[in-house]
Amino acid sequence: MTLYPSSPDIESLVKGRAVGYSLVAPFYTDQAVFDLDVAGIFAKHWLFCTTEAEIPEPGDYVTVDVGSYSVIVLRDDDETVRALHNVCRHRGSRLVESPCGSVGNLVCPYHQWTYRTDGSLIFAESQPPTFDKSAFGLRAAHVRVIAGLVFVCLAPEPPSDIEDVAAVLEPYLAPFELSSAKVAHQSEIVEEANWKLVMENNRECQHCDVAHPELITAYFPLFGYAEGDITPRLRPVFERYRVAAEGLQAAKAACRFPQEEHRELDTRATGFQVSHMPLDGAGASFGPDGEQVCDTLMGSITTAQFGDLSIHLQPNSWFHFLGDHAVVFRVLPLGPDRTAVCTTWLVHPDAVEGVDYDLDRLTGVWRATNAQDRALVTATQVGVNNPAYQQGPYSLVEDDVEAFVNWYILRLRDHLSI
Ligand code: FES
Ligand SMILES: [Fe+2]
Repeated sequence: MTLYPSSPDIESLVKGRAVGYSLVAPFYTDQAVFDLDVAGIFAKHWLFCTTEAEIPEPGDYVTVDVGSYSVIVLRDDDETVRALHNVCRHRGSRLVESPCGSVGNLVCPYHQWTYRTDGSLIFAESQPPTFDKSAFGLRAAHVRVIAGLVFVCLAPEPPSDIEDVAAVLEPYLAPFELSSAKVAHQSEIVEEANWKLVMENNRECQHCDVAHPELITAYFPLFGYAEGDITPRLRPVFERYRVAAEGLQAAKAACRFPQEEHRELDTRATGFQVSHMPLDGAGASFGPDGEQVCDTLMGSITTAQFGDLSIHLQPNSWFHFLGDHAVVFRVLPLGPDRTAVCTTWLVHPDAVEGVDYDLDRLTGVWRATNAQDRALVTATQVGVNNPAYQQGPYSLVEDDVEAFVNWYILRLRDHLSI
C-alpha cells in the first residue's frame, strides 16, 4: 500500500503514470491536482458549454463556471454567439449570477457599468471626460460553434485543431439541425466525485449490463467485443446486431450520411471519437426496448431507425444523436470530489410536449442512467479516498477509459513542459 503526502510531487506522479491502470489517489482527491486540472486542462482546451438551442434569441445567455473562471455565453444583438468573462471592467464585480437568462444589456449590479451584448462598454458613470469607453469592454473568450454545439476556450491561444475536428463532425451533425432544435428538458446533477471518475465512467459500458437496466434494453450488450470474441451465449445477440447494423448502414447510405467512424481520443489536443451504433429491440431510440420517444424526427432525418450517433470529446462532453431526439452531456468540475453533470434533451422545434412526446418517456432512460452513474462514481470516490486504494488494471473493453486518462496525462505533460 502506498500512502501519499498531503502535497504530492505532482510532476513525478504525472511522469510516473502506469499505462493501463487507474490513476493514483491524489489525481482524484488532491486540491493541488484539482487546481492543476483547472489550469492545465479546463483553462487550456475547448470545452463544450451549451447548445445554440439554449440561447435562441439575442440577449439569451448561459453562465459557465470553471474553478475561479466564469464566462457568460450569449447571443449578441447581431445573433453572434460570444463568450464574455463574467468580470466587470470597473472594479471586478461578477456581472451575472444566474445560470441562464436573457438580458437587453449587461448591467453590473455594483455601480451599473453597462455593456452591450457584444461586450462593448456603453455606460460608466462619473468617469473623467478623457475616459475611453472603448478600452474597457468585457474580455472575450474564444468561441467555436460546431453545427449548433457551442465550445469555449479560455486560453489566449486555443488548440487550433478544433478546425480539423469541426470539419470531421459537421457532416455528421448537420442533418440533425441542432441550431434550430428545441430544448425539451435540462437537468443538472452534482456528483460527489472527481470529474475524471465521471468521465472514466462514461467512457466504458462494461458496467451497463448490471447497472443500467433501462439503458441496456436499447443497447446491444456487446461493448468492446470483436466478432472473434463472441461466446456461444452471445451468438444470438450478435446475429441480431448484425441485422440491425446492416439496416443502419442502408439508412445512412440512403441519405448520404457519413459511414466512417473516427477515434482520435488521445492523439490530438482536442481528442474526440465518432461512432454510430444500431440499437436493439425496436431499434429507434431510448424508449423501452428501443422504441421511438418523439413522433417528430430531428432535422432532415427521415427514418426513426437511425441508431445512436455517439460523439465523445475530451475533456468534458459526450453526445447521443438519435432519429427522434438528441441528448447532450456537459461535465464541469466543482472541486476535487464534486462535479456538475448537465444533461439536455433536444427535439425538433415543432415537437410539442404531450402531443409528439411525453416528457417522462423522452427523458426516463437517461434520468435513470444518470442517477445510477452518480451512485457508481460516488462509491468509487469513497473507495479512492480510502488509504487502502491501489491502482487497478483496465480491462480489454475499457480502452476508451485508458485513452481518456492517457489524453489527460499527455495534456498535463504539455502544460507542465515535462
Ligand atoms: S464593479 Fe462593476 S460597475 Fe463597479
Ligand atoms: Fe453508466
